[in-house]
Formats: sequence, structure tokens, C-alpha cells
Amino acid sequence: MAQRKTISQKVDSLLSLMTLEEKVGQMNQYSGFWDVTGPVPKVGNAAIKYEHLKKGWVGSMLNVKGVEAVRELQKLAVEESRLGIPLIFGFDVIHGYKTIAPIPLAEAASWDMEAIENSAKIAADEASAVGINWTFAPMIDISRDARWGRVMEGGGEDTYLGSEIAKARITGFQGNDLSQPHTIAACAKHFAAYGFAESGREYNTVDIGTSTLYNAVLPPFHAAVNSDVKTVMNGFNLLNGVPVTGSSFLQRDILKGKWGFEGFVISDWASISELVAHGYAEDLDHASELAANAGSDMDMESWAYITHLVKNVREGKVSEDKINEAVRRILTVKFELGLFDDPYRYCNEQREQERLYHKDHQAGVLDMAKKSIVLLKNEGNLLPISKNQPRIAVIGELANDNNSPLGSWRLGSDDNTAVTVLEGLKKYSSTITYAKGPRVFSPDANFLNEIQVNETDTNGMEEAVNLAKQSDVVIMVLGEHGFQSGEARSRTQLGLPGLQLDLLKEVYKVNKNVVLILMNGRPLTITWEAENIPSILETWQLGTQTGNAIADVVFGEYNPSGKLPMTFPRSVGQVPIYYNHYSTGRPDLEPNVFWSHYSDEKNEPLFPFGYGLSYTTFDYSDLEIDTSDGENIKVSVTVTNTGKRYGEEVVQLYIHDKVASVTRPVKELKGFEKISLTPNNSKKVIFTLTNKELGFYNNDYEFVVEPGEFDVMVGTNSQEGLQGSFTKK
Ligand code: BGC
Repeated sequence: MAQRKTISQKVDSLLSLMTLEEKVGQMNQYSGFWDVTGPVPKVGNAAIKYEHLKKGWVGSMLNVKGVEAVRELQKLAVEESRLGIPLIFGFDVIHGYKTIAPIPLAEAASWDMEAIENSAKIAADEASAVGINWTFAPMIDISRDARWGRVMEGGGEDTYLGSEIAKARITGFQGNDLSQPHTIAACAKHFAAYGFAESGREYNTVDIGTSTLYNAVLPPFHAAVNSDVKTVMNGFNLLNGVPVTGSSFLQRDILKGKWGFEGFVISDWASISELVAHGYAEDLDHASELAANAGSDMDMESWAYITHLVKNVREGKVSEDKINEAVRRILTVKFELGLFDDPYRYCNEQREQERLYHKDHQAGVLDMAKKSIVLLKNEGNLLPISKNQPRIAVIGELANDNNSPLGSWRLGSDDNTAVTVLEGLKKYSSTITYAKGPRVFSPDANFLNEIQVNETDTNGMEEAVNLAKQSDVVIMVLGEHGFQSGEARSRTQLGLPGLQLDLLKEVYKVNKNVVLILMNGRPLTITWEAENIPSILETWQLGTQTGNAIADVVFGEYNPSGKLPMTFPRSVGQVPIYYNHYSTGRPDLEPNVFWSHYSDEKNEPLFPFGYGLSYTTFDYSDLEIDTSDGENIKVSVTVTNTGKRYGEEVVQLYIHDKVASVTRPVKELKGFEKISLTPNNSKKVIFTLTNKELGFYNNDYEFVVEPGEFDVMVGTNSQEGLQGSFTKK
């Protein structure tokens, strides 16, 4: 508190020295990825950026990598500009910098907040070592639509789990002292509702009801603010007719008003200029006025503020008070990062040398990767495979790929640095033979290009099938390319790309002992696979340590415990599909035809939210509900390891508020605990439901707790568990 007070005094005195141009300059962020490193540019935008840096007209740079480049630009700002205000360097450190952790959706499958926090801490340690002091993460957009490519970047479909993950990642990035050189400022994004893009198409319109906005979309952001997140990014989408970048309701009324957020808001890339394409602003000039008035404090690469905002203030269209407020917020974060004490605090060549790819980081992301794996099916306990199994076939292009498993959004990483599945497996067994099968992806797949998939060339099929014929067990590694998910990677088909399903079917014809290892950045419609293939592991994209993590699970060194953070649909037509939907007026009139269903598909998903198996089994018993406290409800259950090996289980609690003034979903996750048990041992797990868990936001955005009857379920996933009920007085 005392520190905050001194910072605020320092900010005010600095502000009093600044010209309007310098203030607006602090609200300006430029990218330097492609054009602002190396020799001083003489022409084009890069030359203008250099000039602006020297004038103090740039508050922040993004996409500048490495101590040398950061130091060079920081020097321009600090030594050449009139007031010497340091820059803050932002970067998309989404799941690691050089050492790459699993994609965020995979991490969410661990339901392990300690591991997730540690993963963010590793990312912060490496990023800060190359001069970065601000990450554009975590993405905490709730999404229920697997067609949307950015689901890989988030925590899945659930608000409660998503809020816990938001807190863990923010704490991991920011630590408890932001001025430490190994911590970085976090950024909760995208505010708000970007994950609800219609039909899953990137950048598409969002048009959702108030109840969904208040109860599903906003809570993770509120949790982020309560975790002291330093920045928030708005987004590209419209929300009910207003682009969120221009939304005063979201940025001023809710975020800075109701929630008391003290950090600053950054626009998304060029999202201020996109107000024009949205049909909300007449031109860039008008866009700068609307965005500044709506509370977007910093402009990322729209060139709107730097070219028009001073004029708009002079003409009285934006008050100088609003500018002061934005600049105050930005300067405060810079002070908190310690940049005014030492602008080169994050520029330490020795740390840069020592921290990247550090062995502790490798151990951390390996641990995270193992925890992220979900066992979807294991008929006849085909898994784990014995190390002494004589003839093991490994099939599939992805098995031998050291790039794709790094996933999308890894702009700091080096290409081709993942341990492949094949390499990992070979450490355990010398009897492995590999066949690639037909080509799947073009080799030049990258972040900036559309992925090309082979749909016709069957070359390699025969060799793979022959190998399968001669083997005892076949490990098939199939899935999406790492760059098939992420920004601008929406898909209308959610099956295995290219000829991979054909390959799987051909192999299965000659050998039934198939283990399917899936790699993907989103839920897939693996309906045939789930019906036929005996064992399936969901491994997402696990990052640098992919092969080692998968091998540990395949050979039983590690018992998988991950649980799906997103529902897996049976077919694309079911999407958006999610466990916490509302009841319809006609949920179950079967066999009468006039009930809420499809004529050609079940309503149920392929795999529900929260689902995941283990090599051991768990039994749930003794559900007890204690309401004697009068206010808080205690729910307990006993979980027993009934199998033969040590294992971990995520015990999940769901409630259903049966009658409410605004209808509540059929089920809502309100607690979970990850426990570990040796065989024949039991643990009693106790949950406490307070008003926070039992209440909800009504359509006036008031948090209400209504008395009445609740159903409760405690179990192993969102569909299976012990059921009870209680009355809230
Ligand atoms: C994305 C943001 C990202 C920004 C900077 C945008 O395209 O939507 O999430 O932080 O680029 O790279």
C-alpha cells in the first residue's frame, strides 16, 4: 500500500512534466518484429518508429526479441527522449519462451493449479531473461466451440475451472513482487467474449445474452482482476453490436468501474483501426476518439492514437483527464516493474545465456506435459505397453515430427526442438520399427501460412499396413498440425486431417492391437476411432518434452490423470456443445418426436467435460451433505483406489440450482480436488459450498443467492457421480 502511494506520487509528478504529445506517446505501442531491429532504418514505417522512440512518443514495443535488441531500443527511449521514460516490452509468451510447455488447453487438462502456475513461472523466467517484461497471456476466453482455432490458447469451456487457471497463470507470471527481474506483467485477454465467435469462424460477430456474458464470460476476468493482473487486452469482436475495443460499458463501467481494475487496457493488434471496418467509426481519426473515450489505454499497432489523438484532445473530443488517466495507469505498471529504477533491469546477457533451455525448465515442462495427457479409452488394458514387447510398430507422420508438437503461439521458440514421440519411445524399447504412412502436412507449415494437407497421395500406406501386420502392437500417432489451431485457424471439419483416418482403418483391419496417440489443439470428432480402437491417449501438443512425456505414459512409468477441459463432440453438427447448458422445455419426451433432439445424431457428446481414465480405478462412496451450519454447505465423499497401481484422480463437484429467477444450467462445476491414492486406500474429500458458489448474476449484473433446492453431484467427470440434494435456506 505504502509502495503504491509513493508510486502514485511519482507518477503524478512525472505526468505534470509531460506535454500532450508525450502523454499520447505513452499510449502508443509499436511492433518491432519485422522492421525495428538491426541497423537504424532510413525509410518507411520503421524509420518513423525510430524517430518516435527518440521523441518519447512510444510507450511500449512488442515483438522485440533478445537482450541486445531490447537494450538498443530502450537506450533510444531513455537516453534520447526528453523525459527518458523507459519502454515496456511486450511479447506473446503463451506457453513458454524457448522451453515450450504444453499448449494452454493441454495444461488445463491437468486440473493441477500448482503445475500450471509453475509452467507460467518458467515462461516468465525465460522471457524476462531476454529483456521482455510483459506477456500477452493468459488468454482466458471461455469457448464452447471447437471449430474456433484459439481454443488451444485457453482453459476450455468452463468458467469455474477457467477462473482457477487464470489465477494460477497470473501468479506464475507476476510472482508476488513484480519488480523482481524474473517476473513479468501478465495480460488477461480478450475482453470480452471473443470465444463466442459465431459458427467458430475467427474474428466473427459475437451476439450472446446477458446471462451468458455475466455468468460464463466475465467471471474469469473478474478473478484475474482480483489476482492483481496488471493489464487487460480487449479484442477484435463485436459484442451485441458494439466492438469491444470501443465498448465503454465493458472497459469503463465493468472493468475499471465495478471491479476497480487499476492496471491498463491494451487494444488488440490494430483493433482500434478495425472499428472502421466494423462500421462503428468513420475513419481512423474517429476510431481514436471512440477507443480513447471507451477506455482503451494503449494502441497496439493501429497508429490511431499517435496520428490523431492529440488533435482530438485539442478539439475537445477527448478530455485531457481521460488521457491523464490512461497514462497514469501505464506509468504505474512501469514503476511497479522497476523500470524507472533501472530501465535495463531485464537486460542481462549472462542471465540470457543461463536461463534459456535451463534443465530445471525441462524438468518442469516434462512434469506439466505428463499431467496434461488424458486417457480416453483403454479396453483390455492394452496400455501400458510392456518394455519387453517384442515387435512394436510406430506409425504416422506426427510420430517423427519435432516441430508440430510445439503447438501454435510460440514466437520465441526455436523450430524443430521438440523430442519426438519416436525418440521418446525408443529410449524405452529397442524393438520399435517406424513407418510414416502417407504424407499429411506440407513441410513448410508455419504460424503465418495456411496449412496444406495431403488428401490424395496414398504413397506410404502399403508400407505402414505391412509393418502393422508383422507387429504385436501398433502405436499410431495421428492428429492436427501444431499450426492448425491458434489464431485464424478455424475449421469446419473436426476429424483427423488428410488420409489419417483411412490409414488408421487400414491398419486396424490387419492388427487390432492399436494404441492411438492423438495430437491436436482442439476437441476432435473421433467417433469411429472411439468405437473401434481399443486404447486412445489424448496428448494435445505437449511442447519441448513431448516424446519423453508420452513414452512415460505409454510404458507405464507414469499413470495418466488428465481430464478433458472441453467436451468432445460426436459430430460437428452438435457444436457448440458443452456440459453446462440449460434445460429446454422439452428435455425428454422420447419416444414422442417433439422433444429437443437431432434426427440423425445423439444429444450426448462423445466424451464429456471432465472425462479421463487412469491405469487404476477409483470408487466413489458415502456422499454426505451437511447443512447444519445454516449458511455454508459441506459436501463430502470417500474415494478409494480399487485398482492395482498408484494413481491420481480429479474429484469434481457439480451443482444444479433447480429453480431460479434466471434459469441455471443443468450442471455447474463448483469445486474440484486432485488427490493421489495408493491401491486399496481411501480418502475423504470435503467441499464447502458458500454463497459464492451457490449464487449467480442476474440480468442486471447483481450477484444474488436465492434460497431453494439444489442437486449436487460428486464424481469422476461431468456425467458420472454420486448424487444428492439439499435446500439452501
Ligand atoms: C492476437 C493477440 C496477440 C496480439 C499480439 C493478436 O493478433 O489476437 O492475442 O496478443 O496479436 O501478437
